[in-house]
Amino acid sequence: MSIMESKVVFIGAGNMAEAIVSGMVSGNFCAPEKIVMTDICPERLVDLEEDYGVSTSTDNSVVKNAEIVVLSVKPQVMDEVLKAIAPVLRKETLVISIAAGIPASKIEVALGEGTRVVRVMPNTPALIGMGASALAAGRLADEADMDVAESILQCVGLTERVDESQIDAVTALSGSGPAYVFYLLEGMLAAADEMGLEKKTARALALQTVEGAARLMKDSGEEAAELRAKVTSKGGTTAAAINSLEEAGVKSSIINALKAARVRSIELSK
Ligand SMILES: NC(=O)c1ccc[n+]([C@@H]2O[C@H](COP(=O)([O-])OP(=O)(O)OC[C@H]3O[C@@H](n4cnc5c(N)ncnc54)[C@H](OP(=O)(O)O)[C@@H]3O)[C@@H](O)[C@H]2O)c1
Repeated sequence: MSIMESKVVFIGAGNMAEAIVSGMVSGNFCAPEKIVMTDICPERLVDLEEDYGVSTSTDNSVVKNAEIVVLSVKPQVMDEVLKAIAPVLRKETLVISIAAGIPASKIEVALGEGTRVVRVMPNTPALIGMGASALAAGRLADEADMDVAESILQCVGLTERVDESQIDAVTALSGSGPAYVFYLLEGMLAAADEMGLEKKTARALALQTVEGAARLMKDSGEEAAELRAKVTSKGGTTAAAINSLEEAGVKSSIINALKAARVRSIELSK
């Protein structure tokens, strides 16, 4: 069966599920009537029906007719959800999990022998269709399953395939990554404020700078270090700033920060 004809059930109609469904519907990926969203909050479901034309339910047993199930609840409620859907889920159903820190093997065991699972680590820019998602196949998910999962996540941005052993590193890089950029922006904007720039002007300039720099690196194909060297003339203003960053050991702090995030991701998944 093609994805267009598949019934896709999202368990947990929160921010991420809404972002993905929004991308699927606006990109004509599949007909809205093929999508079912479940949640414990009925009011939220009414809004989603109105906004996207999808079906909704407060009963997770709707997975029984699904070809694809996307697990999009918070990790804390995953045990309860898996227990509830295990008795009704069909063997052929592909399960895609976007929950942070839940190994595919845990889902496979909870849902029963033979369940095909694809694990995904998305990030929040998915909310505006600019997400970066890494996908890892569980033990039984095959190439076709990965294609299906990838095509769904591509509705909200870029996808990359990784081995599940790399998911904690991905969590540290792109999962938590937007926060590092916001942290950099906090610093840039605090400095702009101290230097007397108007808030609105500083915000516009800083955001365009971050977006433009990322785009320049993407479009040119050049490495970050090369591009940095190009804008850093000896004795100039950029050199003064970079020297200050180097003296403070900022680059090694960033490396340590990502390693700490990876360690925490491993701890949380246990
Ligand atoms: N946001 C991110 O940056 C990000 C990044 C990577 C991965 N993820 C993963 O994506 C998943 C969803 O995140 P989110 O930010 O979209 O969370 P969210 O907005 O809290 O969405 C989860 C939804 O599930 C509902 N829910 C709770 N228990 C349920 C149940 N038993 N059955 C059905 N629905 C239930 C929640 O309702 P209540 O709010 O009423 O409890 C909520 O509406 C998480 O597992 C997270 O780890 C998120």
